[in-house]
Formats: sequence, structure tokens, C-alpha cells
Amino acid sequence: MSTRDRVLEALRTAAGAWVSGQALAEQLGVSRVAVGKHISALVADGYTIEAAHGTGYRLVDTPRLALPAEVRPLLRDPLWVCVEGAEQTASTNEDARTLARQGAHEGTVVVAARQSAGRGRLGRTWESPHGGAYVSAILWPRVAPWEVGPLALVVAIGIARGVASLGATVQLKWPNDVWMGGRKLAGVLLEMSAESDAVEWVVAGFGINVVRDEASVAAAAYLSDVVPSVSPAQAAAAALDGVASAYRQWLAQGFESLATEYGAIATLDGHPVTVRDVGGGIVASGVASGIDAHGRLLIDGDGGIVAVASGDVTLRDA
Ligand code: BTN
Repeated sequence: MSTRDRVLEALRTAAGAWVSGQALAEQLGVSRVAVGKHISALVADGYTIEAAHGTGYRLVDTPRLALPAEVRPLLRDPLWVCVEGAEQTASTNEDARTLARQGAHEGTVVVAARQSAGRGRLGRTWESPHGGAYVSAILWPRVAPWEVGPLALVVAIGIARGVASLGATVQLKWPNDVWMGGRKLAGVLLEMSAESDAVEWVVAGFGINVVRDEASVAAAAYLSDVVPSVSPAQAAAAALDGVASAYRQWLAQGFESLATEYGAIATLDGHPVTVRDVGGGIVASGVASGIDAHGRLLIDGDGGIVAVASGDVTLRDA
């Protein structure tokens, strides 16, 4: 935990009472000037902190944002060992990749309240204004690179479990989009490093639209539309705990054990679809007919049923 987070924790523990700068400095082993700088940074992040000369500081209000110090206390699953992040970053996936390369442990999480260069699948941008939950988790699945394919679906199932625990019912659009009421609620971006026969680390990144902001995406779904009181920090923590449960199930029992759950909330089944690759080339076309035990989309087309491992799906007119 950073010194800034420890300053915040000390103010939180005081439960609205005044804490002197000297007491904070002594407790944290830093100078009073350093305490003052951390207080200013917390105020810039959205915390309301009163300061009185000769008396000290008092925490008055906390921002409803997916900040590390707001997400950390809400997490229940022991997989999550460390929560890093900031009010704003370019991309939590990029930050998590850097930490993973530096040897950060499985269960390290990066969160942010907004991103300036959020990344989506297939090289797209992920708009990341205030009001969203932007999360990237480092995982170390002990599997071969060719076995990691279903993990994106596992993460989507985990997010669905998490938001269901908050009271929202969602659907999954293959491979790993989370939809609510016919609009996209959340997206998943997995990035990994692997040797020829073993995965070294995976960064499982996801963004959830939680509360509308003036910069929000008009056509998207927002969790607060159905769960009005939800905060981005609650959404991030619930989704992370859902991801941990689905991830553990996948490691222990394989994707077969999750396929029925996926199928029960899958949106594409029975619809005519086209799957395209990154360059826009058609991979398969036909009627979506469920997924197989590896999480591949089954397409019933002119040449029979084909299993597609990756791509972008669009619905076709029947
Ligand atoms: C998609 O295209 O649907 C995937 C979107 C993934 C966005 C998340 S937000 C947190 C993490 N950091 C990023 O830069 N991207 C992912």
C-alpha cells in the first residue's frame, strides 16, 4: 500500500475526527511536508478533506470512483493480493503488463477511475470517462498457450456473476462482451506473455460502464440504470470477485463446467451471424449454434458446422 493510501487509511480510521499532521507524520514515518503533499493529492483525486491550521486534517467525504483505496476494502476473494492504480492512467492493461513484466504476483490488480488511452479488442479505443470501472488483473494460469482461449469467456462469466450479485441480469455476446438490455455494458481485453509451452502471465482487463457522465457513450448500457445506488468501486470489486470464482472453477474443472452457464445467458444462439478477423475478412458465416467445450463459437453454415476460436461477430438479417 502506498504512503498516500496509508494517509487515507489513517484519516478513515479516525472516522471524521481531526488528526494532526504531526501524528500522521509520526505514524507513517514521513515528514509533515510529505503528509501535506499526500493530502493535496488525495483532494485532487476527489476526497473532501478539511484542513485547519494547528488542528490537522479531517476526512469529510470520499469520491464515488473506482480508486484503489475504494476498491480494496470491498474485495472478498483471497486471489486479490494487491490493488494498485490511480485516479487516471493511460491504460490499466498497460500498467498491469508493466507490473507483470517486473514480476508482480498473481492477483495483483490495477484500477483507475478514468483512462486517457483505454484499449479495446481488435485495436479499438475504449472510451473511459469518469463513472466507469477500469480494471486489469494479473493471472498466472498454469496452462499451455493453446489452452488459454476460453479464459476470455471465463472472465466474461465472472463479470456476469459479479454484476448479478449487485442485482443486474446480463447477457454474454461471444466471445466476451457483456450486454444488458440490448446494449454493451462491459468489455474484456486479455493480453498475455507465453513461452512455447507455458503461459507466463495473463493480464485480464475489463471496463464496465457504471454511472453516466457527460462524456459517456450514448449507445452503451450503464449498470446504474438498473442498480441506481451502485458505485464504480462496488462494480469493480463485485466483478473481480466474480472473475476470481469463475477463474478458479476453470482451473479446477475446465471450461466444460462453465459452458452451460455461458450458454444460458448467450445472446447469439439461433441468429444468423458473420464472424470477421482483425482485417475484416470473413472467417465464417451461418447460424450461431452454441459453443463447444473449448469456448469456440459453433457456426452452422453452408459447409456444415465450423468451430471459430476468435473474431468479431455481427448479426446478419435472417
Ligand atoms: C472490448 O473491446 O470490448 C474490450 C474493452 C476492454 C477495456 C478495458 S478497460 C480496463 C483495461 N484497460 C484497457 O486499456 N483496456 C481494458
